[in-house]
Amino acid sequence: MPALNLAGRPVAEQLLARAAERVQHLPRAPRLALVRVGDDPASESYVRSKDKKAHQVGIQSEVHALAESTSSAELLALVERLNADPGVDGILVQLPLPAHIDEEPVLLAINPAKDVDGFHPVNVAQMWAGRARLNPCTPAGVLELLAFYGIPVAGRRAVVVGRSEIVGRPMAAMLLGRDATVTIAHSRTADLGAVTREADILVVAVGRPQFITPEMVKPGATVIDVGINRTEVDGKGKIVGDVHPDVAGVAGGLTPVPGGVGLLTVAQLMANTVTAAELRRLDR
Ligand code: GUN
Repeated sequence: MPALNLAGRPVAEQLLARAAERVQHLPRAPRLALVRVGDDPASESYVRSKDKKAHQVGIQSEVHALAESTSSAELLALVERLNADPGVDGILVQLPLPAHIDEEPVLLAINPAKDVDGFHPVNVAQMWAGRARLNPCTPAGVLELLAFYGIPVAGRRAVVVGRSEIVGRPMAAMLLGRDATVTIAHSRTADLGAVTREADILVVAVGRPQFITPEMVKPGATVIDVGINRTEVDGKGKIVGDVHPDVAGVAGGLTPVPGGVGLLTVAQLMANTVTAAELRRLDR
């Protein structure tokens, strides 16, 4: 039996509908500041789609598009201004930043209560301690997808392939928070296939096209493909995941690329923005 297609769209729609409903209970619309530096086309397109989705669910968003030549000091000054503005509930600085700007001081400067990406060290620590308030959007979206399709997590073996700050590490922390037995594998893992074959839930975020092949997957496992690799096939641009499509013949469930996890990141950002607005109301 081929794997169940774990489509992202219905999950994203449910997340957005819930966010829109929560907005109705706030005294005013949440406000999200989206900051982008330079002219990386992928970043431009991501920020545009975040801005559009925000408006759809009743979040007021504003895009701060800064020139490539912007200095660290100028960017930090903008972050400080947004931190101090009581009307701003969420701040997101789109990554990667241009090479001349060091990312770490910028992420450190964001008020943790407004850090809708969940990248600030305070929020990272809270997440590993098991009491997160704002979780990174992509792994949080993956947990929503597992819940939507009724895939149990507690007590099961989860293997995360990839240890990035944006996906792999927070994914492992969040699966642990849901009582999975978690292994983090990566490019230096010996006999990777033996490790991935242990997984009831296999999450792959390595950024290598079709890296996970059928013999690396336990029959019936749930496979979550976080990869978004831009490749060319017959002169045409095509997006492929980190998981080979033949894995569908072995897995119990598989997220498609495109149309899987990719749709969840933006939807989860809207949920996080509403959460930030709710938390700021409570803190006052
Ligand atoms: N670049 C790629 N993914 C992300 C993300 O989740 N947040 C931000 N700010 N930048 C990104």
